[in-house]
Parts: sequence; C-alpha cells; structure tokens
Amino acid sequence: MCLVSLSKLLLLLTALKPSFQSTLPDKLVVAYQSWSECDDKVISAVQNGVNIVIWFAANLESSEDGSALMAGGPNRTCVEEKIGDLAQLGYGRDKVTHLISVGGWDASHPDTSNSAQEYFDAFEAFSDGLYDGLDWDLEGNDALTSQWNYFSKECLLLMGDLSQLLHDAGYIVSMAPPESYLDIQTTEFSKYVNLTYPSDDWNIDPPFSYHGHNTYALPLAMHPDAFDFINFQIYETKSHASYNTTILGTEQADYLVSYINMLLHTPLTVDFSTDEDFSSLGLQTIDIQDKIVVGFIAAGGIGGPITAANATKAYQQVEEMGEGNIRGWFYWCLADDGDGLLPGVLSSAF
Ligand SMILES: *[C@@H]1O[C@H](CO)[C@@H](O)[C@H](O)[C@H]1NC(C)=O
Ligand SMILES: *[C@@H]1O[C@H](CO)[C@@H](O)[C@H](O)[C@H]1NC(C)=O
Ligand SMILES: *[C@@H]1O[C@H](CO)[C@@H](O)[C@H](O)[C@H]1NC(C)=O
Ligand SMILES: *[C@@H]1O[C@H](CO)[C@@H](O)[C@H](O)[C@H]1NC(C)=O
Repeated sequence: MCLVSLSKLLLLLTALKPSFQSTLPDKLVVAYQSWSECDDKVISAVQNGVNIVIWFAANLESSEDGSALMAGGPNRTCVEEKIGDLAQLGYGRDKVTHLISVGGWDASHPDTSNSAQEYFDAFEAFSDGLYDGLDWDLEGNDALTSQWNYFSKECLLLMGDLSQLLHDAGYIVSMAPPESYLDIQTTEFSKYVNLTYPSDDWNIDPPFSYHGHNTYALPLAMHPDAFDFINFQIYETKSHASYNTTILGTEQADYLVSYINMLLHTPLTVDFSTDEDFSSLGLQTIDIQDKIVVGFIAAGGIGGPITAANATKAYQQVEEMGEGNIRGWFYWCLADDGDGLLPGVLSSAF
C-alpha cells in the first residue's frame, strides 16, 4: 500500500472521529449541575476531581409543527463559556466529559410521537457540538395520579433506541435511576413509579409511594451495550440505603460494602413476564459490571445518606477483597457543595 492512500485513510479516520472524548477514564467522578445552573462552581469541582459534568435538564418535545425538538437546560452561552474556561485551565474535552440530562423529577416524559432517529437529529441540533452525550433522568411526579408516574411502552422503547443511536455515533450515554428504578434487591418489573415498598417499614402513614420496580431495566436489557455507565441514586427518598442505615442502624460503610458487593456479584436479574407489553422478554440477566456508579446527595459537602468519607472507606474495603470494584461516584448537585469538597474526598478513594 502506498503512503498516499495510507495518509488519506488516516485523514478520513480523523475526520470521522468525534471532536469530543469518546472513551471515558477508568474511574469516574460525576457531578450534576442543579436545574439550569451554570456558574463557576463547575470550575472548582473539576479542579478537585470531577471528570464528568452533567448539565440539567432538557426535554424531548414536539415543536408546533409536530417535529422532534430537544429543548430546555442551562443557558447555552454560559455553558460554552465554562467549557472554554475549563479548557484554558488544562481541563479540555479530552479530560472532562460534558453530558446533557433529559428529564428530572416532575418533568414531562418524552413526546413519543417522534421516532428515536428524529430525536437523534434533534439532539445533534440542540447540542451542536457542545455536549459529549446524554444522561437519562426521567422520573416520577409529585401528583400521585400523574401520567408521568407511568413509563409508557413507547417511552421505554425510545429510551433504548435513542441510546443505541447515540452510542453507535460515538456519544456517551448514561442513565441515573433512583435506587428502586434499578433495584438489585428484587426481580420485579413495573412501568409504574408510584409504588410502595412492602418490606421497608418506615412507620409513616401514608407510606412513601414514589418507588419503582426496575423500570430502567427495560432499555438496559434491550440495549446492554448502549449505556456507558449507570448512576444509582441511593439517595432516593426512603431508599433501602436510608432505611438500612437509619431505621435498621447498619453502619454506613458496612451497608455500602454490602450494597456494592451485591451490585458486583449478584446478577441483575429482572422478570418481565408479568408485564403486558414486555412479557416475551421473560427473565433477563443484565451485565452491569463495568458500569456501576454510586451516587449521593451533596448534603452541603458531606454526602448523604452515606457520607463521602464513609463511601471512600467502603470503596477501600471492597478493594481489599480483591474481586473488582465499582466504576466511580456521582453526586447531586454542585450547587449544594458550594466549596467543592465532595470530589476531593470521593476521588481519594481510587
Ligand atoms: C446567558 O449567559 C450569558 C453568559 O454568561 C449571559 O451574558 C446572559 O445574560 C445569560 N442569559 C440569560 C437569559 O440569563
Ligand atoms: C399511579 O399512576 C397512575 C398514572 O400513571 C395512576 O393511574 C394511578 O392511579 C396511580 N396510583 C396511585 C396509587 O395513585
Ligand atoms: C460514618 O457513618 C457513621 C454512621 O454509620 C457516622 O456516625 C459517621 O459520622 C460517619 N463518618 C464520617 C467520617 O462521615
Ligand atoms: C438491608 O436490610 C435488609 C433487612 O435486614 C437486608 O435483607 C438487606 O440485605 C440489607 N441490604 C444491604 C445492601 O445490606
């Protein structure tokens, strides 16, 4: 082969390669911005160890003429400025990944009258090179009977199909299920996210009724390779993590060691057979080994319901067992960690 065609080939490959970082670091420290937030807190957070920033939050809608539209999220000009400032400080796109989230508590779910391909195009129009990919944060709604306390068949299929298209185009895709929306402790599946836990007795009346049952397992089971990492929100209100550490009194670090070991070594098995739309999937076991990211609320720079200090201790105990470990940590949100303390503690675990 002559040199000319080789260099042409290289040129072509370079041109096709996305301008953003398409592979992630070994260990992840993920931080969310609050709703529409954009300010200098992101700078100190990155300097202290954050390597993935998730900006919050856009929606998948229809425009007036019915075409697919991605809209919302933080002030674009400001995000451009902060990403530029980070690059000047040596934290360019090769070191820090920037994702845009879709959803959030009380947000509408996507308008499923448009296809995944149409929303892929809408993502690219919205991002226009600003974001390295997308994070799924679709959740429930305060109004118990709201339609958004139900993930429709079309919505779950769209989540999977769009994720696959983005992944295939070289974008990073992640999901951030509240603990019960991807629950290693049950095989049950439901599209409803206004359920109660039968076993955790908080002794409150009425019981907390905003839990799900492995809702996020559906897109994951159908497109296991499309997702780069999974942010497990163990700070979901009335989560198993809070229950075990507060009501049952399990030491935080002990609980987290046990939870991490379950995530690492218990197969994530979900039974879709009871669902009218997805029964044909039957029992699915999903491999999440290299995708596990565990997350906290910032709680003013301390971390909850497990503190960042206890999380670090738990990580190191798991490390000593020598049978693998999680991919990293995340926290919600930058605004609630004003001094940028969490990333320093969390990244000291690795
Ligand atoms: C968006 O951000 C830019 C740059 O920080 C700022 O000048 C502008 O006022 C902001 N726009 C709004 C609507 O807040
Ligand atoms: C849960 O949400 C659905 C709407 O998606 C509603 O029909 C149902 O009544 C709600 N369940 C409860 C217990 O409120
Ligand atoms: C670790 O967790 C325990 C409760 O299990 C708590 O009392 C302690 O303050 C935590 N330690 C740190 C350093 O956060
Ligand atoms: C939480 O407590 C329950 C009840 O004792 C137990 O079955 C479960 O294994 C605990 N979870 C973890 C992750 O340790």
